[in-house]
Amino acid sequence: YPYPPKICCLGAGYVGGPTMAVMAKMCPDIKVTVTDLNERRIAAWNSSSLPIYEPGLQEVVEEARGRNLFFSTDIDAAIQECTIIFVSVATPTKTSGIGAGEAADLTYWELAARRIAAVCNASSNMSPKIIVEKSTVPVRTADAMAAVMAASCKGTDFQVLSNPEFLAEGTAIDDLFKPDRVLVGGPVTPQGHAAVQYLADVYRRWVPTEQVLTTNLWSAELTKLTANAFLAQRISSINSISALCEATGANVSEVAYAIGVDTRIGPKFLKASVGFGGSCFQKDILNLVYLCRQFGLPEVAEYWYQVIAMNDWQKKRFAINVVSSMFNTVSGKKITILGFAFKKDTGDTRETPAIDVCKMLFAEKASLAIYDPKVAREQIYSDLGKEVIDKIEIETDPYIACSGAHAICILTEWDEFKTLDYKRIYDQMQKPAFIFDGRNLINIAECQAIGFSVWSVGQSLKPLC
Ligand code: NAI
Repeated sequence: YPYPPKICCLGAGYVGGPTMAVMAKMCPDIKVTVTDLNERRIAAWNSSSLPIYEPGLQEVVEEARGRNLFFSTDIDAAIQECTIIFVSVATPTKTSGIGAGEAADLTYWELAARRIAAVCNASSNMSPKIIVEKSTVPVRTADAMAAVMAASCKGTDFQVLSNPEFLAEGTAIDDLFKPDRVLVGGPVTPQGHAAVQYLADVYRRWVPTEQVLTTNLWSAELTKLTANAFLAQRISSINSISALCEATGANVSEVAYAIGVDTRIGPKFLKASVGFGGSCFQKDILNLVYLCRQFGLPEVAEYWYQVIAMNDWQKKRFAINVVSSMFNTVSGKKITILGFAFKKDTGDTRETPAIDVCKMLFAEKASLAIYDPKVAREQIYSDLGKEVIDKIEIETDPYIACSGAHAICILTEWDEFKTLDYKRIYDQMQKPAFIFDGRNLINIAECQAIGFSVWSVGQSLKPLC
């Protein structure tokens, strides 16, 4: 393989953009081209207002862009030029057909595979290609990629590798600078091994060798699904205990801390909340569930499905609790939603619990005011549906959003919500004024002293007051 490699990526989204930007920053001698079908997205990557928000991303892009980092819609030219081709397109849950609601929709992914094959097929002396699955895909997808390539471009020497991405939105840049590990899976053949080492060597430029793990293809593919299933499982587990805490008078934060200091358990991912969201956890677990069913393992499928069932129940429980605490009716009452993103430090709203909670409150005929520091107005409209536009106010100031409200629901753990002037907010609200804290973020005693009726997940007995 040529040295230094030239690298491109199909898909300039939450993963493709930051991953390639960090790679370009860390390897100034490697040309990295990020491509996408979406012209607006590429134009945004080339502008001063990037298409996604991540702390530290702007600086990394500005340092490398135009030097060795390029954003382009000329996908074919990038495929032609590069040895390492990352595929980082979306793989959402199928919404129709076989496996609808569970299986991964590989439409974008297969189109990308066919595009690579077509470009390779068009030239008789194409340089060798290493195609890298960055998208999260079902186990054995690499076989399909190899089949598409083998069927269409007999002349090109290619290898298919799996290099799943473990970054978390909100901390993507730190995660990419200092990953716990990088995982590269490849065929167990001399050629496969060479391709794995070629890619692993790129990461080894900034990731310590012992943290660059190499496995066979199927282990790498399955590791990503398993990692997300385990992470989400911890949240559902602590959320299930939050309900028991509310029934018994135990405090879920105290319980979580006390179990987390056990080094066998560890402290991370033990924060009770209104539920997990994001584009990956639910989709990847459903994908795992579907795989288990396909491989004749219904007990394993059911086991993991419960992680999602518990999350759905937690969101529903939150909304039911709001209604029942407010004298069993929120009809015509203004409720303020603080935080709409699925977690802090991102503007991403995919699968955010706020969507479910808002829809349940709409069904109860509440009117909503929404404030989120990073989510665009159009995004909220598109998530909640055009039919509710006249029932929501979207505010750019949290105090205005809370003014005249009967209740506040905190649904994202933005740091700024910790330091709001709750006395000022209380004075402008209807009485009794309620706070439902779905992130255990406020100081309960202080807010009670102001006069609020406070409910905090896993920390307040039911019923409220
Ligand atoms: P995204 O939806 O933000 O980005 C995907 C991009 O691919 C879109 O801009 C789309 O226009 C483009 N695209 C689709 N077909 C294409 C083609 N044939 N050629 C070029 N571009 C094409 O998706 P995101 O969040 O970046 O996720 C990508 C993959 O990474 C998914 O499989 C996801 O499961 C996985 N992943 C996501 C993480 C996250 O935090 N968002 C973390 C780890 C993995």
